[in-house]
Amino acid sequence: MARVLVTGSNRGIGLEFTRQLLARGDDVLAACRAPEQAQALHELAHAHPQRLTITAVEMADEASIAALAAAADAHFSGLDLLINNAGMNVRGERMGTVRGQDLQATLRTNAVGTFLLTQALAPLLGKGERPLVANISSQVGSIARTSGFHSPSYAISKAALNMASVLLARGMAAAGVSVAALHPGWVQTAMGGPHAPLPVAESVAHLLRTIAGLTLADSGRFLDHDGTPMPW
Ligand SMILES: NC(=O)c1ccc[n+]([C@@H]2O[C@H](COP(=O)([O-])OP(=O)(O)OC[C@H]3O[C@@H](n4cnc5c(N)ncnc54)[C@H](OP(=O)(O)O)[C@@H]3O)[C@@H](O)[C@H]2O)c1
Repeated sequence: MARVLVTGSNRGIGLEFTRQLLARGDDVLAACRAPEQAQALHELAHAHPQRLTITAVEMADEASIAALAAAADAHFSGLDLLINNAGMNVRGERMGTVRGQDLQATLRTNAVGTFLLTQALAPLLGKGERPLVANISSQVGSIARTSGFHSPSYAISKAALNMASVLLARGMAAAGVSVAALHPGWVQTAMGGPHAPLPVAESVAHLLRTIAGLTLADSGRFLDHDGTPMPW
C-alpha cells in the first residue's frame, strides 16, 4: 500500500489517478482548490473511508503550498508517490496579444508551484518507500516538437516544469527520490477538449504502469504515458 499525494484531484486526470490508486489499495491524500465542492472526491471518500483524505491547495499561492506540505507531514510518516498533476492552460492566445498576467499565472501554477511543493515535501519523500515524484508535463513543453505558435503560456510553463523535473531529480538523488516528467497523452478531459482521442482511464492506467516500472536510474527522464522517451 503506497502513500500518495495527488494535486488537482477533483476532476480530469487527477480524479482518475485518485480513483485508480484507491482501487489498487493505496492511501491517498487528495489536494484540490475547493474541497467542499469536490463532489466526486467525497463519493470516493465515502466508498474508501480510511484511505482517502481530501485537503486544500491553491498551487499559485506559496502559503497554501506550505500548508499542504504541513498537512502531508501530519498525515503520513513518509511519502511514496507525489503526483504533481494540477495544471492550467489559457485558451485562444495569439502572437502579438499574449498577456503578461496569463503567462505569469500559468508559469506560477504549472512550474513554480510544482517546484515549491516538491521542494517542501522533499524531507517526507526522503522517508518514503522507493519514493517517486511524477510531474504531469505535456508534449507541448517539448522544445524539439514545437512546430508553431501554439499555447505559448502553457508551452513555456511545461518546458519550465521539464527543467524543474531534471533539477529536482538531481537535487533529491542523494535522498533516493526519483523524479520523472510524464506526458499523459491527449486525454478526454476539460483541458483535452472534445476531440481528444485517449480516455482518461486508459491514460492513467498507462501512467501508473509506467510509474511502477521506474527506478532511480530513470530519474530525470521525460516519458510518454506508455513509457516511451519524449524528446526535450
Ligand atoms: N488533457 C490533456 O490532453 C493533457 C495533455 C497533456 C498534459 N496534461 C496535463 O495533465 C494535468 C491534468 O490535466 P487535465 O486534463 O485533467 O485538466 P483539467 O480537467 O482541466 O483539470 C485540471 C486540474 O488542475 C487543477 N488546477 C488548475 N489550476 C490550479 C491551481 N492554481 N491550484 C490548484 N489546482 C489547480 C484544477 O482544479 P479546479 O477544478 O479548481 O480548476 C483541476 O483539478 C495538467 O497538468 C495538464 O497540463 C493534460
